[in-house]
Amino acid sequence: MGSDEEILESIGRLREERKAVILAHNYQRPEIQDIADYVGDSLGLARQASSVDAEVIVFCGVHFMAETSAIVNPGKMTLLPEPAAGCPLADTITPEGLITLKKLHPRAVVVTYVNSTAAVKAESDYCCTSGNAVEVVRAIDAPEIIFTPDKNLGRYVQRVTGRELIIWEGCCPIHDDITAPMVMELKRLHPAALVVAHPECREEVLELADEVASTSGMFKVIENAVTDEIIVLTEAGMGYPLGKRFPARRLYFPREEPLCPNMKLITLEKVERSLRDLAPMVTVAEDIRLNALLAVERMLEIG
Ligand code: 13P
Repeated sequence: MGSDEEILESIGRLREERKAVILAHNYQRPEIQDIADYVGDSLGLARQASSVDAEVIVFCGVHFMAETSAIVNPGKMTLLPEPAAGCPLADTITPEGLITLKKLHPRAVVVTYVNSTAAVKAESDYCCTSGNAVEVVRAIDAPEIIFTPDKNLGRYVQRVTGRELIIWEGCCPIHDDITAPMVMELKRLHPAALVVAHPECREEVLELADEVASTSGMFKVIENAVTDEIIVLTEAGMGYPLGKRFPARRLYFPREEPLCPNMKLITLEKVERSLRDLAPMVTVAEDIRLNALLAVERMLEIG
């Protein structure tokens, strides 16, 4: 194993040789964000993946994000440097489970959060992300809407849009672990702080927030904030990109340690190995891909 400098030098050389771009989610380790061509939320990453001018996409995120890249851009090679980087929220729903629910509601339109497998997206009419779930549901004219798999995001969308949704009972364990007493304690310690929350947080937590935003949406909220103190209710890894962009602001998280273990599985060594070996590659069977693509494209058309 080489030193960090050697690894960085090798990544720099290989990314040129392979005509590769490196895309990274906002929760990635700082050293991964620092080498990425683009860092963003699921929506921004999906947009980048669909439009990048490169032969290889090294996707530094979790499996469903790399799968989305393979769905929207099958002509490029999508690499996930650590194939075990999964998402417990995506694991809460299977295509079979969704098919059973659809049979109970044959007239329903299905909106599926991007944190899901390609096979579940393929059974859905629309995809959505935390950045556009409200707009996607507002754009749908249907007697019934099934919303999967995140119950917290579903309840938030239901409250904002006033639409009655049939909601799958999944959740992200990291966001669902943030409780109202934790937030109240932070507010007691920092009474002047603005509170911004990710919509995967519980309903009672979102009620305590001033703003609800996707990870990238949080940048805009903080940019416009009139106070320097911000309570940020999401995975503490967000402290890195937010702190880099807003060095003068004081950011407070419910937990200090970054907590999404899957997001932290990707390391510089694994990125280098991926670029060198052009593996592990993420692919989606063509029949599933085409159906999932319809759901993703409908989303991208809306917002
Ligand atoms: P964003 O799309 O807001 O980055 O959220 C992704 C995610 O998985 C949050 O847990």
